[in-house]
Amino acid sequence: MPQPRILMCPPEYYGIEYEINPWMSRSRNSDRERARRQWQSLHDTLVELGVVVEKMEPVPGLPDLVFTANAGLIFHDRCFLSRFRYEVRARETPYFEAWFRDHGFQVEHLPEGYYFEGAGDALFCGATLFAGYRIRSDVRGHQYLGDKIGCQVIPLELVDPRFYHLDTCFCPLAPGEAIWYPPAFDTYGQKAIQAHIQRLFEVDENDAVRFGCNAVVVGRTVVVNAGCNRLCETLQRSGYQTRMVELNEFLKAGGSAKCLTLRLDGEDAAAWRSSCQ
Ligand code: ARG
Repeated sequence: MPQPRILMCPPEYYGIEYEINPWMSRSRNSDRERARRQWQSLHDTLVELGVVVEKMEPVPGLPDLVFTANAGLIFHDRCFLSRFRYEVRARETPYFEAWFRDHGFQVEHLPEGYYFEGAGDALFCGATLFAGYRIRSDVRGHQYLGDKIGCQVIPLELVDPRFYHLDTCFCPLAPGEAIWYPPAFDTYGQKAIQAHIQRLFEVDENDAVRFGCNAVVVGRTVVVNAGCNRLCETLQRSGYQTRMVELNEFLKAGGSAKCLTLRLDGEDAAAWRSSCQ
């Protein structure tokens, strides 16, 4: 079994310099040293679990570059590059693009005017792409991707501004299995998720606001922000191992474990991954 590969970017220049989601407040800046330690402990946990962590060079003036989940959507050796809704984040794109090109990915762009925030809003569970839209990504971008990749897309409207990316309220664990926070979706989205995923682990509001859904899945181990005790107990009862890492410095920017990572060889839950091994 090849080792999982994940892209991360050290938090050298991380901070709260603008406000583009309800978690961010310039009056609550992050403590750089604490952020550095928390990022390192996430990094070390992943390495312990057998992950090869690829590190991107941090860039001054790009405080959110740490959130590599938003770089793009990976499908085999193709990377569909993000088109960020906010200009402050769009400045990250050339750096992500250069990284992917230098590391052997075929970089593809969505048509102009289609907002798309990568693995933050587009997650495979089995052969299906679950796609969050409205707050950041557009539904048109997801449909375009579905055509390009040749997979079924389930568009899910995000209705709670606190859960502005799909990966803040939905986390595929394996084909047919996912963690979710139902109130982040409208009734249609809830029904669509229930119809397509047989085994759903629901988080309560307490774990949802600690970003319990923003977990990194490595095989049968789920790495999640500290304090998500209920979720961890549920997962353990269902045969998963769990690791909690304190990431509250990143919650100040509206991010947690998953946002800080981008799986380069396909998430464990993505069916295409096993078909190419
Ligand atoms: N401050 C960043 C933003 O609002 C956080 C991104 C979190 N990333 C994620 N995949 N949910 O864009």
